Amino acid sequence: MSRIVYVNGDYLPEEEAKVSVFDRGFLMADAVYEVTSVIGGKLIDFDGHFTRLCRSLSELEMDNPTDRDALLAIHRELLARNGVVDGLVYLQVSRGVADRDFAYPEDAAPSMVLFTQTKQLADSPAAKKGLRVITIPDQRWARRDIKTVQLLYPSMGKMAAKKAGADDAWMVEDGHVTEGTSNNAYIVKGGRIITRHLGNEILAGITRAAVLRFAREAQMELEERAFTPDEARAADEAFVTSATTFVTPVIEIDGVALGDGTPGPVARRLREIYLDESLKTAV
Ligand code: PDD
Repeated sequence: MSRIVYVNGDYLPEEEAKVSVFDRGFLMADAVYEVTSVIGGKLIDFDGHFTRLCRSLSELEMDNPTDRDALLAIHRELLARNGVVDGLVYLQVSRGVADRDFAYPEDAAPSMVLFTQTKQLADSPAAKKGLRVITIPDQRWARRDIKTVQLLYPSMGKMAAKKAGADDAWMVEDGHVTEGTSNNAYIVKGGRIITRHLGNEILAGITRAAVLRFAREAQMELEERAFTPDEARAADEAFVTSATTFVTPVIEIDGVALGDGTPGPVARRLREIYLDESLKTAV
């Protein structure tokens, strides 16, 4: 069945939804994006994603083509037109269409595209089974705090993981884990949750912010600092967070089973708390 896609003000059947070959998103990866999950027809953490979108645009000196309420209305319209109850909304803003030039064009209007994907996110097999991850060198650009569409290296990492019989990869820079190919990474040792501090090296996950808040409220011990792959392989348990995986346990790193090799109690509890709490504020 054909989806309805949003392109620069129009709602179009996906076959008719097109952007120019001169779009800077296509030519130069000069574009930013957001992924917002949908459970039971409601958008999870919409304001967090909107706030980060504004920051990404501003870091790249790109005009903002929308405001909060207009963007929420577009999200809702797309969910309604496509009958999406569980899944996600993908949003991309590029600098727009212009003759190819390394300098930013002065008069280009940003292009904005949104589409939906139906997917059972809350009830996922990976959450029950846990993920196997491998570690790979982090060879992405140095401004990973901006959510750009430069996803070729993460994509290569995901394929390297699959070839190694794993599910995903954790990236390592200067001897420390940065994050997963499309998620933030955590380990648990002696009941203490450890995840990398924010900076240019990782994306400030919207799910990360919420999960850390809930963990603090539940009096769990937390440490925001870099950790090594050795430390990770010796951890009691591990997990990842993102808008599409929520909290998902990791059961193996580089072939080494963590704990008894099954999803750990901290990850399972945080997944439950995250789903319960974030549904309360879903829009
Ligand atoms: N990815 N780190 C990276 C590199 C990511 O790509 C993502 C999200 C995250 C988690 O951020 P959030 O909690 O805001 O989703 C961390 C999305 C889901 C994607 O590319 O599909």
